[in-house]
Amino acid sequence: MPVLSSVASAIKERGKLKGARIAMALHVEAKTACLAIALREAGAEVRLASCNPMSTDDSVALALNEKYGLETYARKGEEREEYYNNLNSVLDVKPGILVDDGADIITLVHSKRRELLSGVIGANEETTTGVVRLRAMEKDGKLLFPVIAVNDSYMKYLFDNRYGTGQSTLDGIMNATNLLFAGKRTVVAGYGWCGRGIANRVRGMGSLVTVTEIDPVKAVEANMDGFDVSTMESAIENADFVITATGCRDVVTYQHMLKAKDGCVLANSGHFNLEIDVEELRKNARAVQVREYVEEYRLDNGRRIYLLADGRLVNLVSGQGHPAEIMDLSFSLQARGAEYLVVNRGKLGRGVHVMPREVDVELAELKLRSLGVNIDSLTEKQKEYLSSWSEGT
Ligand code: NAD
Ligand code: ADE
Repeated sequence: MPVLSSVASAIKERGKLKGARIAMALHVEAKTACLAIALREAGAEVRLASCNPMSTDDSVALALNEKYGLETYARKGEEREEYYNNLNSVLDVKPGILVDDGADIITLVHSKRRELLSGVIGANEETTTGVVRLRAMEKDGKLLFPVIAVNDSYMKYLFDNRYGTGQSTLDGIMNATNLLFAGKRTVVAGYGWCGRGIANRVRGMGSLVTVTEIDPVKAVEANMDGFDVSTMESAIENADFVITATGCRDVVTYQHMLKAKDGCVLANSGHFNLEIDVEELRKNARAVQVREYVEEYRLDNGRRIYLLADGRLVNLVSGQGHPAEIMDLSFSLQARGAEYLVVNRGKLGRGVHVMPREVDVELAELKLRSLGVNIDSLTEKQKEYLSSWSEGT
């Protein structure tokens, strides 16, 4: 992760994170460990919990605790109580900075841990769903400190959500099922940054792809990108795979599942496990585990449905999350965001903020350097031309 290494060295040198207390709730896996260690090396006291009960790589949690002495509270397969106990344990560090993915520790500080509010300088939020929740809090006047929407930086969503989710979602599904995409029919629900990535990658693997949307503009975009666009009710009838990435709930209902063909595989890559109605599926059909994180349900109509990863993020539960080259960028933004909060302490108002665009440019330059790619720069004459309004001829 060359960009993170470079960003972390500069942060360490500037010394602004020295003595900061950072509570992190992120997916506990190898790349996250690099971020946690980098922040600690910059002088912060860091504690880490998972932002999802099923996404932890236990070998990483063990190594962080035992080899690196970095307090990590996470286990793959946490029950709800254990999950919240772990979030509370990281909050016991009395953080000045929160680094969140999905907004669970930020909301916890605003509800059951309000005694911590006065010590919080601010927070970073990693993902679209977290930002949506925080903007709702802000609208209701309930968000009581500044939050950096890391997700909304170009160097995050253009790469992490699109190419990271595009690749790692398919990796998670292939890892869980060992099935072929070529020649199969795949339905992708949502044509946002993640959905675009997934739809394009899975088409690249030879699938015939149908997109479902609720936004007419995105639906037209999917159509002109060459995808079939349809409703879930209709598309699921022929689907071999249905992949959700909407940030919404009840995208695949039990009524939809009853229309699915025998053997349809359901996977979710959106943040919460509400996109596929697993609760209703479990009320109506019994599960048999056929492989790790693959459950077979036989419906009343005799057809089988395969549910991956309990309907949770398939790329992290059945896979290893995004590739290091992607998390290099996302976690460089997280590190810069933590420093930005400290440097701008007292200057940022309560609410959701986006980091200045210069940070995107700085990280893009570092990324290009790490790739050994050079680009052109404007001549003085070109700059003048681009800032003038005189006639072009
Ligand atoms: P986005 O806002 O760019 O796109 C979501 C799209 O879903 C929008 O186009 C929206 O119109 C569409 N949509 C909403 N409800 C729908 C419905 N009921 N049916 C069909 N389409 C619907 O968001 P994004 O950045 O693509 O993120 C999507 C989800 O994935 C979020 O929950 C986000 O937190 C999560 N995410 C996961 C990963 C991962 O590693 N798996 C990475 C990044 C983001
Ligand atoms: N690895 C660590 N955090 C991740 C995230 N939010 N998405 C995908 N992979 C990750």
